[in-house]
Amino acid sequence: MSGKFPKTFSSFDLGTIKLKNRLIMAPLTRQSSHDDGTPTDEMTAYYARRARGGLSMIITEGTYSEDKLGCVAYLNQPGCANEKHISAWKKIVDAVHDNGSKIILQLMHGGRVSDPRCLYDNDSPISASSTKSSGAVLYTDTDEEMHNRGLAPPWPEVNFPEAKEASKEDIKNISVGFAEASERAMKAGFDGVEIHAANGYLFYQFIDPKQNLRKDEYGGSAINNARAVIETVDLVRQVIGDEKIISVRLSQDGVDDFEGQWPGGVNYAEELGKAFRSSKADCLHWSSFDWKDNRDNSSEVPMSKIIKESSGLPMIVNGGIVEGDDCEEILNSGSGDLCAVGRPLFAHPDWPHIIRSGEKYNWIEFDRKYVIKPSYDYNYGYPLNLKKSNWNPDISIRKKR
Ligand SMILES: Cc1cc2nc3c(=O)[nH]c(=O)nc-3n(C[C@H](O)[C@H](O)[C@H](O)COP(=O)(O)O)c2cc1C
Repeated sequence: MSGKFPKTFSSFDLGTIKLKNRLIMAPLTRQSSHDDGTPTDEMTAYYARRARGGLSMIITEGTYSEDKLGCVAYLNQPGCANEKHISAWKKIVDAVHDNGSKIILQLMHGGRVSDPRCLYDNDSPISASSTKSSGAVLYTDTDEEMHNRGLAPPWPEVNFPEAKEASKEDIKNISVGFAEASERAMKAGFDGVEIHAANGYLFYQFIDPKQNLRKDEYGGSAINNARAVIETVDLVRQVIGDEKIISVRLSQDGVDDFEGQWPGGVNYAEELGKAFRSSKADCLHWSSFDWKDNRDNSSEVPMSKIIKESSGLPMIVNGGIVEGDDCEEILNSGSGDLCAVGRPLFAHPDWPHIIRSGEKYNWIEFDRKYVIKPSYDYNYGYPLNLKKSNWNPDISIRKKR
């Protein structure tokens, strides 16, 4: 194809699905569903608008798989856990398809970094091992919204509860939960699912050697650390069949460890890639805030390239992609096959058309229009009128700031 960015605007076969170009919307949590996890009409408009902007595929925001506290990571996070959720997602999927884009559902489990308001009183989250996160609850507010709410950066620290080690039965149940949610996603018409094993959440807690201290077959080596997610992928495949996409998202950093590095660096990444070789995933998805980095001084090869080569799987690359030239560099250097773009799409739903035009544009990290507030009531126990959360943030401190 002729034009300024020939590779970027060429088609790609992902599994059995043809994508019209290499531009994908990265998953972006908006905390904008109804309190019971049902996606809203506002979300339909938001996703449809971005589909119309020329993306070949959208990966939804991280969505919980089961109506169970502990699985839910954020207030007003959408779920794909029941019939009501399916009907609401179907509207979104239909609108996205009508606007010319494919869409897959990102499924996640928060593990030890779930917002404590999403847990029962005195309940512990589960994780790969018994560990405790020290981090901040991530709000999706803009600075202006934080100001309006009497908050100011830095984001409030949260005393995350100590996690308990997942039993083998817990691991099995989580895989089954993902498979059942994937089945529901197919009823809603999704083109596939992405299993979230990045950014600090439960499956990442297995993959990150700093957090996975297990001595059984789910810990101790790259292949063991990847076992929980690979078993999940394989179960999801059994349920959704070969015609649908399964992507697995990986990263080195997490929401409670933005500078995260794997002990073992690129060697660990290589082993991890090999572990996915025989999995039933169609592709991997490398997440970072800078697609070029690997955070290992011994090598300058982007981590996405290392994992792509060792896994033999197509790779979606994400992080700091803002211009068409970035995409061409990723695709021509063999670092990836598809480019996932996050923050530029907040402000610029037409981003693919904009970069294709070659015009300079004003990159804005957050756009108010599509940043939607989480619940104001900090004592609100998520969402099913279950017991009240025991997390009681000191609101007076926030107001003072
Ligand atoms: C507000 C916000 C919400 C995000 N939500 C998710 C999410 O639900 N799932 C996920 O895998 N990554 C999530 N991410 C990470 C992005 O997908 C992406 O990795 C990150 O923004 C870097 O890519 P970019 O430079 O293209 O924005 C989120 C990022 C931001 C800024």
